[in-house]
Amino acid sequence: MAHLLHIDSSPRGDRSVSRSLTQDFVGEWTSKHPDSTVSYRDLGHNPVPFVTEPQIAAAFSDPSTHTPEQAEAIRLSNDLVDEFLAANCYVLGVPMYNFGVPAAFKAYIDQIVRVGRTFAIDEQGYKGLVHGKKLLAIVSQGGDYSEDSPAQSYNMQEPYLKLIFGFIGITDVTIVAANNMMGSEDTRSQSVADAKAAMQDVIAQWSAS
Ligand SMILES: Cc1cc2nc3c(=O)[nH]c(=O)nc-3n(C[C@H](O)[C@H](O)[C@H](O)COP(=O)(O)O)c2cc1C
Repeated sequence: MAHLLHIDSSPRGDRSVSRSLTQDFVGEWTSKHPDSTVSYRDLGHNPVPFVTEPQIAAAFSDPSTHTPEQAEAIRLSNDLVDEFLAANCYVLGVPMYNFGVPAAFKAYIDQIVRVGRTFAIDEQGYKGLVHGKKLLAIVSQGGDYSEDSPAQSYNMQEPYLKLIFGFIGITDVTIVAANNMMGSEDTRSQSVADAKAAMQDVIAQWSAS
């Protein structure tokens, strides 16, 4: 049975393209798979904090040695990792900000990419610990970064998402882009329609596996 973790990271509400698309995806998915369960985290409206020095000390030491301050500092990160690992499918809404991801999304990544929890280090190097999961990132972009477009090399957002989730072991990563959101109305509607069609393909693929 699928347990979906739905995350939004746009600070915008009704005007957010990424929010509207993740909501469509989750609505469609749950209507096709009513036995699925969904958890929701809204980073755009309820951001998680940046990491702190006591938290870093706690993340890289044995929990049995933690001071009360360190134990408290790592608590939220532990809860976020537990929530992340409890899911087997992820649907993320991620706007492009300054060619990368919004700070609120990056702050979340800093909380869940944790040694011994989501990745390990051994003599061979780094190893992802999160296996057998599927991830869909729905990205919204003002410009056009599609393959062979002049701005393609400015796109630090999509390669980053693939890299960071691959780093923790998630290799089944699909990115659906609603691009050109600062273009004409026609261009925008075409892009949203293309993104919705691509989301349908993801639903079909996930349903078949
Ligand atoms: C602070 C900020 C930075 C942005 N930086 C970029 C950018 O580097 N490239 C781009 O194509 N669009 C950029 N945009 C436009 C957003 O990616 C676009 O409006 C997108 O639809 C936002 O997602 P949302 O609709 O879910 O809020 C930026 C928007 C804001 C508010």
